[in-house]
Amino acid sequence: MQKKIISDQYFAKITMVFYAKIMNKTRTSFKCSNCNYTTIKWIGCCPECKEWDSLVENIISHHGGSNKVHVGITPAHLTSLTSIDAQEQPRILSSIGEWDRVVGGGLVPGSLIVITGDPGIGKSTLLLQVACEIATTKRVFYFSTEESLQQLKSRAIRLKTAHNNLLFSDAAELSSIIATAQQEKPDVLIIDSIQNCYINDANTLPGSVGQLREAAFQLMRLSKEHTITVIITGHITKEGIIAGPKTLEHMVDAVFYLQGEDRWQTRMLRAVKNRFGAINELGFFNMEHNGLQEVPNINAHLISEISHAPGSAIVSIMEGSRPLLLELQALTNASKLTMPQRVVSGLDHKQVVLIAAILEKYVKIKLSMHDIFFKVSGGFRIKGSESDLGTAFALLSSYFQEPLPEKSIALGEISLTGQIKPINNIGYLVKEAEKFGITTLLIAKNQTLEKTSCVIKRFHNVYELVSLFGQ
Ligand code: TYD
Ligand code: MG
Repeated sequence: MQKKIISDQYFAKITMVFYAKIMNKTRTSFKCSNCNYTTIKWIGCCPECKEWDSLVENIISHHGGSNKVHVGITPAHLTSLTSIDAQEQPRILSSIGEWDRVVGGGLVPGSLIVITGDPGIGKSTLLLQVACEIATTKRVFYFSTEESLQQLKSRAIRLKTAHNNLLFSDAAELSSIIATAQQEKPDVLIIDSIQNCYINDANTLPGSVGQLREAAFQLMRLSKEHTITVIITGHITKEGIIAGPKTLEHMVDAVFYLQGEDRWQTRMLRAVKNRFGAINELGFFNMEHNGLQEVPNINAHLISEISHAPGSAIVSIMEGSRPLLLELQALTNASKLTMPQRVVSGLDHKQVVLIAAILEKYVKIKLSMHDIFFKVSGGFRIKGSESDLGTAFALLSSYFQEPLPEKSIALGEISLTGQIKPINNIGYLVKEAEKFGITTLLIAKNQTLEKTSCVIKRFHNVYELVSLFGQ
């Protein structure tokens, strides 16, 4: 049956292209919306990226030369920026502080945003809570294309969310959703999820990349033309990218990932693209029996879990506009293998190997004969190199089996020549660390620093790091 439907669609597509060629004297090409591979023939599976039904038709007119006089077409109206009213519309705030901060200080009217994450992570729960808060001042429409209205109702009872300004529908056909929005003009339109929406008159298969692209395009126009904030949810694939990857991320104003941590019930909302705010901004929530509850004081939570033990070092990194206090944990053990193991999570594997090599070279310790296990606590990922000094201290502390000074934090980069380098934004990091009881700073010799109540230990080179371990 499935085969028959597909073969009918293939046949229709081929006929359509052939007809278009004869009647309009046009040339067509097909471009993969996933990897931009181009071919003159439509094929079901892209030979380049192996995505199914991702080829989208481009029609190239024969009469497209610049000398052609266009009859009956209204030319575009041009204007200078001075005549444009620059007054920004006020942002749409929910009273959920973590949400408002991550979206860039409230939702921008007329923007199109995507919330994505693994199934069951809490996207629908978060959106229902946000929708209800926004509905106290604005009109919100919630189109649930995945769950029935009964399922939504039971969730709403659990979350104790209900408001007369928040209206629901289980319609999933895009043109009917758009027609409703055009007629009723809500302030916020939520579609949960975009992958379950379908377009009746499209030449693409429901759920395909082509259709996703078409849906995002239509919703973008809706949001801009009628100043409606459109929020859509999207699933992510096994590889952790939004299904129909580049397509959605490029077309929308902002993309947020809701991510979970294996051990806690904590969820992180991360801005990965935002035309109206900072990227990498993080918001924290706890999944509880009555929905997602904000965790505004995440550092208190993180610091309470830190142990004062050999192999542990505290570092601080900026995530968006917020400094986070994280624990690095290292375990080094004399290896019985010819190729000692390096098992790293939360940090680039190569970065740990590099710091171990620098220590071996300049401090003359035999880390190359040791297995190294290394992790960042709390399931966080560190990208920059401002945690280099902390990485070195964690490795040395495990190697010598001696803890670092209690309540100390390491802030510095390490160069290939073994020098400890200063880092940016140290003022913010130190202020936050002091708030949570840090009393000793381990930093670079030439790091400039404002006045602080902490004890400061400065290091010029990795040789000097061993002085902390009674060596
Ligand atoms: P859901 O919002 O449906 O996830 P998504 O839309 O991302 O697929 O979240 C479902 C999970 O959240 C489910 O495992 C149950 C849990 N949950 C709670 O723990 N507490 C709650 O109050 C709610 C509504 C859900
Ligand atoms: Mg859902």
